[in-house]
Amino acid sequence: MKWNGDELLCLNLLTEPKLGLGTILVTGATGYVGGRLVPELLERGYKVRVMARASSNEIEGRWPKAEIVVADALKPEQLKTALKGVHTAYYLIHSLLLGPKKFEVADIRAANNFREAAEECGVKRIIYLGALGDVQTTLSPHLRSRIQVAETLQSGKIPVTILRAAIIIGSGSASYEILKSLVMKSPVFLLPYWAKTKCQPISMRTLINVLVGVLEKEETSGNVYDVGGMEILTYEEMLKIMSKLLNKKKIFIHTFFKSFKIYSYIISLQTPVSAPVVKSLMQSCKNDVLCQSVNTLPSSMYRPITFKEALLRAMSREELDAVYSRWSDEYPRAHELALKLHELKKPPYYISSYSLLSLKKKESLFKSICKIGGDEGWFNSNWLWRLRGILDSILMGVGASRGRRSSNALRIYDVVGFFRVEDIIANKRLLLRAEMKLPGKAWLEFRINEEGVKNKLFVTAYFEPYNWTGKAYWYNFLPFHYFIFTNLLKQIDKRS
Ligand SMILES: NC(=O)c1ccc[n+]([C@@H]2O[C@H](COP(=O)([O-])OP(=O)(O)OC[C@H]3O[C@@H](n4cnc5c(N)ncnc54)[C@H](OP(=O)(O)O)[C@@H]3O)[C@@H](O)[C@H]2O)c1
Repeated sequence: MKWNGDELLCLNLLTEPKLGLGTILVTGATGYVGGRLVPELLERGYKVRVMARASSNEIEGRWPKAEIVVADALKPEQLKTALKGVHTAYYLIHSLLLGPKKFEVADIRAANNFREAAEECGVKRIIYLGALGDVQTTLSPHLRSRIQVAETLQSGKIPVTILRAAIIIGSGSASYEILKSLVMKSPVFLLPYWAKTKCQPISMRTLINVLVGVLEKEETSGNVYDVGGMEILTYEEMLKIMSKLLNKKKIFIHTFFKSFKIYSYIISLQTPVSAPVVKSLMQSCKNDVLCQSVNTLPSSMYRPITFKEALLRAMSREELDAVYSRWSDEYPRAHELALKLHELKKPPYYISSYSLLSLKKKESLFKSICKIGGDEGWFNSNWLWRLRGILDSILMGVGASRGRRSSNALRIYDVVGFFRVEDIIANKRLLLRAEMKLPGKAWLEFRINEEGVKNKLFVTAYFEPYNWTGKAYWYNFLPFHYFIFTNLLKQIDKRS
C-alpha cells in the first residue's frame, strides 16, 4: 500500500521540522511503532536511515526515499555501519517476540551494544520509547525489561529522551487487536482480579506526534516524559467501551481464577496474537501503568485524546481498508530471514499442481487471487481452512485469526491467515509461505501463464518434509489437495 497524505498522523503537529540535523536513524523500523514513524519523518523532509535485520525489496519499496541499512543489534560490528554519521537515533528495538524466557537478556544486550556503538560513532541524541510502570512496585518481566533498557541507554554519555507509554490504541496495534477480537468472539468474559488494574492507553496519533515533536524540540533532550491518553481506565472498562462501540452485548463475570498461562492460551485462540506474546503482555496487566513523571510536554506536540476517540480512529482506518501495519504481522520474529522457496538447494520433492484454462483477463484473475483469506475467506471449503487454523492455534502456532491487513491489496511480508506473502509479481505470481506448525516447510503458489487468448491459472503446493512425519503428513493431506485446489481454481475464475 502506498503512503498518502490522508494517512499522515503529524499533519497538525505544531513543532517546526529541523532539517539541518542530518541523518536520523530509525531502529525497529519493521516493527509496529517504527513502521509508522518512518513515513512521518520522511514526509517532514528528514534524511532518514532505516535499520532492519534483513533488507528486502518490500522495505526499499515501502520507503524509497529512505536509506536502508542492515544491522542486528546483537552483533556490535554491524551497528557501527548503521550509526556512522547519525545525528539522532530512535531506539525502538524490542525482542518480545522471542518469548518470555529470552527477551529480557536479548533486550539488555542489544541496548548495551547500541549505546557503545552510538558513543563511538558520535551520535548526538537517542530517543527511546519504553513503557510506563511504577519502579517502586514489583513490575512484570516485560515492564521491568523496558525500564532496564532505558537505564542501559541512559548510562552512557549521549543524552537520551525517554518516552514512557502504556498500551497503544491504533489500527493494527496489539492491544487494539486483542481487545477487538475478544469482543467480537467471546459472548462471556470471565474476568480475573487484574481486570481492575488501571491503565492510561495512548492513541497512535498522539504517540507519533510526540515521537516526532521531541526530535524538533532540542530542550526535550535528556528528559523523561510519561505520555498517555486523556483517561485512566481499567481493562474491564476498556472491554465495555469496545463492546458498546461494536454494539455487542456481553456478560461480564468476575472470577478468582488468575493463571496468566491459561488466560493467555485461551486469549491467543481468539486473537491474532500468539500465546507466548499474549502471556508476556498479560503479565503486565497486574501493574498499574499511569503517567507519573513531573516533566510535561508542550501542547504543540502533545494532545491526548479519549480512549473512545482512539478506538473510533482505528476502526475508521479498518473500514477504509487503510491499515498501514499490524503488530501481529511481526510474528514469528525475524520472519524476513526465513528460508525462501528459491533459496532451497533443489526444488522440493513433494509438489502437487492443479490448473484451469480461463477466458478471463489476467488482471482480473490476479485481482481475485489477491483477495484470498480476506472477507470471503478461501472462496471454498472455508470450514477446512478454519479447522486447520484452529488446530494450529491449539498447537500454539500462528493460527488463522491473523486474517489480513488489507482485504484488497497485498504486499511482500503481508500475512494471509497462516501464510505470509513471499513473492508477488503483478498479474503473474503470488507465492505464500506457510507459517503454521508443520513437519516441514511449505509454500502455496498461484501463477498465471498466457496461452494464446486464454490464461492458464495454476495453484501449486510445495512441501519439503523435515523427516518421515513430514512425508506421512503430505500423503495424508494429498487427497484433500485435489478437492480443495480444483474448487479454489474454479472459484477464482468465477469471481474474476
Ligand atoms: N506496541 C505497543 O503497544 C507499545 C506500547 C508502549 C510502548 N511500546 C514500546 O515501543 C517500542 C517499539 O515497540 P513495537 O511495538 O513497535 O515493537 P515491535 O513491533 O515488536 O518491533 C520490534 C522491532 O525491533 C526489531 N528488533 C528486535 N530485535 C532486534 C535486533 N536484535 N536488532 C535489530 N532490530 C531488532 C524488530 O525487527 P525484526 O522485524 O527484524 O524482528 C522490530 O522491528 C518498544 O520499546 C515498546 O516497549 C510499544
